[in-house]
Amino acid sequence: MWLQRLLSGAWPLTFILGLAVVPLQVRGLNNGLALTPPMGWLHWERFLCETDCQKEPWRCISEQLFMQMADMMVFQGWLDAGYQYLCIDDCWLAPERDANNRLQADPIRFPGGIKKLADYVHDRGLLLGIYQDVGKKTCAGFPGSKDFYELDAQTFADWGVDLLKFDGCYYGTLDELEDGYRRMSVALNRTGRNIVLSCEWPLYARPLTKVNYTEVAEYCNSWRNFADVSDSWSSVKAILDWTAILQNSLVPAAGPGAWNDPDMLVIGNFGLSWDQQVTQMALWCIMAAPLLMSNDLRDISAESKALLQNKEVIAINQDPLGAQGYRILTRWKKDSNFELWEKPLSAISLAVSITNRMEQGGPRRIEFSTTMLWKGTVCKKKCYITQLLPTRQEYGYLNITAKLPLWVNPTGTILLRID
Ligand SMILES: *[C@@H]1O[C@H](CO)[C@@H](O)[C@H](O)[C@H]1NC(C)=O
Ligand SMILES: *[C@@H]1O[C@H](CO)[C@@H](O)[C@H](O)[C@H]1NC(C)=O
Ligand SMILES: *[C@@H]1O[C@H](CO)[C@@H](O)[C@H](O)[C@H]1NC(C)=O
Repeated sequence: MWLQRLLSGAWPLTFILGLAVVPLQVRGLNNGLALTPPMGWLHWERFLCETDCQKEPWRCISEQLFMQMADMMVFQGWLDAGYQYLCIDDCWLAPERDANNRLQADPIRFPGGIKKLADYVHDRGLLLGIYQDVGKKTCAGFPGSKDFYELDAQTFADWGVDLLKFDGCYYGTLDELEDGYRRMSVALNRTGRNIVLSCEWPLYARPLTKVNYTEVAEYCNSWRNFADVSDSWSSVKAILDWTAILQNSLVPAAGPGAWNDPDMLVIGNFGLSWDQQVTQMALWCIMAAPLLMSNDLRDISAESKALLQNKEVIAINQDPLGAQGYRILTRWKKDSNFELWEKPLSAISLAVSITNRMEQGGPRRIEFSTTMLWKGTVCKKKCYITQLLPTRQEYGYLNITAKLPLWVNPTGTILLRID
């Protein structure tokens, strides 16, 4: 959809260097939601499936954990920065459905039930996300939604749920997988409640078939394509490389209401260096990814918090055009281990990231020039360059022949805004 808006504007068709430009008739799931990538917090990467609240009262998956995170989101500026969805992942369920086949939260860890938690979250201006699975069981072995799509959709609506992360473990056959996602999407719509649907359809379907992203986008607001992120640079790197390799099919599918989901932000945890945290933030914004943090908001460094709450950086992600950025395949990458990505923004602006993919040595210099972008056509004579990450800096106007020397740390990224 953004592609069509671009093509009807002044943009040259050649802007997607190396991409086959096929103006798809993409229509996102028509529920009016997620017109910019959803932002919030999701428990999985940091808290996993800890169910022992005796031994791990501070970390177990319980209503107390979510209430504490809700308070942090409000009082520590996260909600103001745009992080609105507080999302529960797997392991919230009781081992069995109730006598009427309705889902129920674990009675010991969620004594008030999900309805009470939703009220608590809504009272603070936040929205609540929950997790289920298209198959017979969730990935952690709790009751899945298979055979109960309509009932479960209604249960979530009755509780006041605002987002559903719908996983794909134990899906059965490809037909059952695809049919399950379609049915849950329709069932959520029929409840009449605004519920964002976050799917994992392409992740599970890709090994079996060619994914039809036009169709996925008709049923889902966002969708996972690749394996779970973990708290490591190798994981972040792998997700970036997978996305770049498949960008011909992924990028045209994205737009308002329909997003590729490269999985959670792990900034503020243990595995990423400062430069790697900057890289994840910059590239997740360039990719128009849902910004779902998985970290402990009760205990996060001031630096990571400032990075995650950087309003100018978030504005790149939330730009209303809704274009997903892409890697530019130029000689700059091959020759130098510098990787450049760009993301078209509304008002004929552009975000550009420059990552140093060398993992040895010190800061390396790149002579940045606007001719590296859009075949140099981004701004006709001169561009105004603002560096947003790792620190803010205004470089002023750059004409088409000028070169701007920039130094990028190993595994780090410079994020520029070009107006
Ligand atoms: C349900 O789908 C219809 C048709 O696509 C749409 O107009 C409506 O807004 C949707 N309602 C909800 C609650 O998602
Ligand atoms: C992909 O899905 C769309 C929408 O459901 C459909 O119109 C189109 O024919 C499908 N494409 C292929 C190749 O199956
Ligand atoms: C471009 O900028 C450089 C450095 O500021 C300047 O020396 C040069 O004359 C400019 N070229 C044009 C065509 O404006």
